[in-house]
Amino acid sequence: QRSLLGLKGMSAHELTSILDRAAYWDAHTEKQVSVLQSKFVANMFFENSTRTRFSFEMAEKRLGAEVLNFTAAASSVEKGESIYDTVRTLESMGIDAGIIRLKPAGVLQELAAKVGVPLINAGDGNNEHPTQALLDLYTMRSHFGEVKGLHVAIIGDILHSRVARSNYWALQALGAKVSFCAPDNMKAEDLPDAHYISMEEALQADVVMMLRVQLERHATGMLKSAEDYRLQYGLTEERAARMKKHAIIMHPAPVNRNVEIDDALVESAQSKIFTQMQNGVPVRMSVIERALRN
Ligand code: CP
Repeated sequence: QRSLLGLKGMSAHELTSILDRAAYWDAHTEKQVSVLQSKFVANMFFENSTRTRFSFEMAEKRLGAEVLNFTAAASSVEKGESIYDTVRTLESMGIDAGIIRLKPAGVLQELAAKVGVPLINAGDGNNEHPTQALLDLYTMRSHFGEVKGLHVAIIGDILHSRVARSNYWALQALGAKVSFCAPDNMKAEDLPDAHYISMEEALQADVVMMLRVQLERHATGMLKSAEDYRLQYGLTEERAARMKKHAIIMHPAPVNRNVEIDDALVESAQSKIFTQMQNGVPVRMSVIERALRN
């Protein structure tokens, strides 16, 4: 039984093994299998989600698991119950694994050490979002054949992005070059070795990964205006026309259309945004199976 708390420090071998198993599930034509029959998996979301929550649920159901869905707003968290007590409560009832999304960064490691069931990080604050990065890697590998040697430019609100951090660690482990592009007030202070480039340089990457401007995490005044941001750091149609022809556009979504990416580009020929969402299911099947495999 193995938790997945983050991708920092994960070897290329381990990453590849997760992606290979995702490819197996991707190619699997049966809609539902009984690999996790009689296993109970709880989706514990202390922060809102659409893609991650539902693709985990799809993945669990495709593997034949019994699924319990916990939403903080409809739980005793509203009465002040702690994250730890909530997870212990579900554990005491007999869950076999927990998928967990948390608002604060830095509490997941401690929580995982205190409970007996494997936990899978579905996003913890601005720290890591490992399954998002795995599906991003899977999308790149499916398109280009391999991740090694790619130049991936991650553009936007790096400061608040757990997606950027998980991708930063995993892409480098697999031999890709990672560059960031961000306004000064959205650069990550915890990644001193990160390489920042201009928007013009970023447009020459093989993968142009746009990030959502995370307004809900911003201090007042961080963003002058949505239009100002779009003009300086948005992937506009005019900028996209200067990308390499073989390059792809990615975005973890949800998307602020016409802020970090123009509306017309979201489903353009070079965009992999909905393919990323599609790939989330087999990737999460691989991760859940890994957590519960004996
Ligand atoms: N990409 C992602 O994590 O989306 P959700 O917040 O909808 O899960």
